[in-house]
Order: sequence, then C-alpha cells, then structure tokens
Amino acid sequence: MSEKILVTGGTGYIGSHTAVELLNHGFEVVIVDNLSNSSIDVLDGIKKITGIEPAFEKFDLCDRTKVFDLFKKYSISAIIHFAALKAVGESVRIPLDYYHNNFESLINLLLAMQKNPVAGMVFSSSCTVYGQPDELPVTEKAPIKKAASPYGNTKQVSEEIISDAIYAYPSLKAISLRYFNPIGAHKSAHIGELPTGVPLNLVPFVTQTVAGLREKLRVFGDDYNTPDGTAIRDYIYVCDLAKAHVVAVRRLIEEKNKKKFEVFNLGTGKGISVMEIIKNFEEVTGEKVNYEIVGRREGDIEKVWADTTFANNELGWKANTPLKEILLSAWEWEKKVRNNK
Ligand code: UD1
Repeated sequence: MSEKILVTGGTGYIGSHTAVELLNHGFEVVIVDNLSNSSIDVLDGIKKITGIEPAFEKFDLCDRTKVFDLFKKYSISAIIHFAALKAVGESVRIPLDYYHNNFESLINLLLAMQKNPVAGMVFSSSCTVYGQPDELPVTEKAPIKKAASPYGNTKQVSEEIISDAIYAYPSLKAISLRYFNPIGAHKSAHIGELPTGVPLNLVPFVTQTVAGLREKLRVFGDDYNTPDGTAIRDYIYVCDLAKAHVVAVRRLIEEKNKKKFEVFNLGTGKGISVMEIIKNFEEVTGEKVNYEIVGRREGDIEKVWADTTFANNELGWKANTPLKEILLSAWEWEKKVRNNK
C-alpha cells in the first residue's frame, strides 16, 4: 500500500507542484486547504498532469477538532505543511491574523502528530530567517536575524515551536526547508502561480506586465552594491523545489534523518540580479519588458543566495533547471491563464 501524505495548502503555488511530484512518485495525497488564497480548479490541473485527483478537504487548520478528525479519517504517514499566510506587507497591517493563523495551524498539526503514528513533518520555511546575511553564500548555520516583518517572524518562531515540540515529545520529527525565491510553473502549464490582485513578487509582475495587465515593471533600486546595481536573489524552479519535498518526506518515512529536527536550504546556489531576470526573460520569450528604475523597496535586502552543499550532499538533491527554461515556463503559464479568462 502506498504512503498517504497530508499536504496542507496543497492548492497553493508550491503545494500544488509538490502534490504533483508526490503523485508522480507513487504517494497518495490528501490536500487540506481553506481556499483563502487559492482555487479549487487547481485540483483539475493536478489531475490533468498526473491522471489522479487527490483527496481534498476544505477547512481551516485553526479548527482543532477538524484537524483531529482528519487523522481519524485518513491514516496519514507524513505531513508537508505549506498552509500559511505569506504576504510581507499585509503581515505588517494585520499581524495578529498572521500570528493566529500560522501558529494555531502548526500547533494543531503537531498535536495531531503526537497522537497519531505519523513519521514526521516537512515544514515550509524561508530564507527570510537569515535577513541580510553577513556571509554569502548563506549556510544553514548562519545566525538568524531579527525578522523584518510579522510574516518573517512567524517562520522563525514556527521553527522554534517545531524544535521545542520535537525535543519534548520523543515520537516527533521534522525537516524544515528554507526556500529561497521559488519561480516558474509546471511545464504543462496546467498549474502555476496565481497571485490575487497586484503581484508583489518579481516574476509574476514581469509576466503580467508583458501580458499587458500592468503598464510597467518598477525595478526597486539600481544603487545596490552588486555588479549591475540591482538586488540579487537565488531564484529556484518551483518543480525542483517540489522534488526536494519528496526526498524529505521519504527521508522521514524511511527514518534516514540524522537528527530529529533537520534544516536545509533550498536554492540553486547562484545569485541573479533583477536586471538579469529581465534580460533572460526577454531573450527566451522574445518579448520586451517595459520597466523603469525607481527607489529601493522598504525592507528589501541587497543580496542573498544559498549555500546548498548540505541539501545536495545529505538529500542527494540539486536544483538544476536552467534559468531561461524556468522563465519560459512562467511565461507559458501566464499566457494560458490570460487565454482562459
Ligand atoms: C519576498 C519576501 C520574502 C518571501 C518571498 C517569497 C519581501 C521583503 N520578502 O522575497 O519574505 O519569502 O518573497 O517569494 O517581500 N522586485 C522589483 N520589482 C517588483 C518586485 C520585486 O524590482 O515589482 C525586486 C525586489 O526588490 C527584489 C527582487 O525583485 O530585489 C525579488 O523580489 P520578490 O520576488 O518580491 O522576492 P523577495 O523580496 O526576495
């Protein structure tokens, strides 16, 4: 019998790509999502790619009774926990919603894990925990910097909650995956990133500008201490990222983890500037990106990219999709979404 993986936030951006990879690798998938920032149609996309429609339960993970009932209904082997509020700016405006939602859902899942025979949890964390690192590339051992937003703080404190719970309850174990900047869409263009309203992240803003939805991309700052003056990030293909979750979940189920709580950076190890994103996008799509240079965005850091040695060696995983291919997948997805509207 195949293992059943609970994917919370499974209709979201990274969750849906991970559900596809899990199904392609023979796992069964149970998705829980309250659809607060995603659409039920994503299930069709997953089915079109894999031929399988995963089990789906629509509820809020802050509802403890429903979480406990879920574990009675399904025998869950492991959890991948994506479901969370994730907009930096919004988290400054409504911090209590962020703390309530992101902590309550995590605590409920940890309590359910403690009461049920679950191999462990893979937690969706972020490179935001490093702030502007003192040394680059940044390793998992780099100091955690004071969070720049309530959202960032929820990621830091969630890792602490998991760590404390794991050392208190012997049966629990977990892997925290610190994502750098996930971009792109599944090559089939059946699933991808679907920002509601004006996108905050760079690549969806680029694709929407080229698609004619936005007049101009604003490049936030060209006076950074980088070769072309624009800020540098580590952009990782969402499908490469999704594959790392399959490896991590297997590691927990097969008890190959070396510690009860392990932390891995998930990036490419390469820093790319905003201008390089624009240039590569233009080259691979043949489209022109209308942009202007404006002032820096508040709260942005200058540069960050991952040291991925630990993930490469320990997980036997590497993000290797070329940037142009990734940007093309984002563009194909944007065109598909526009044509369907
Ligand atoms: C942001 C979040 C981070 C979160 C990540 C998830 C902030 C400060 N950080 O990271 O916590 O984990 O998304 O994907 O919001 N840019 C432009 N013009 C735009 C949009 C972005 O020039 O219209 C630039 C930014 O200044 C930055 C780069 O593009 O240099 C990447 O920005 P973005 O995609 O928003 O990601 P991060 O800010 O790195």
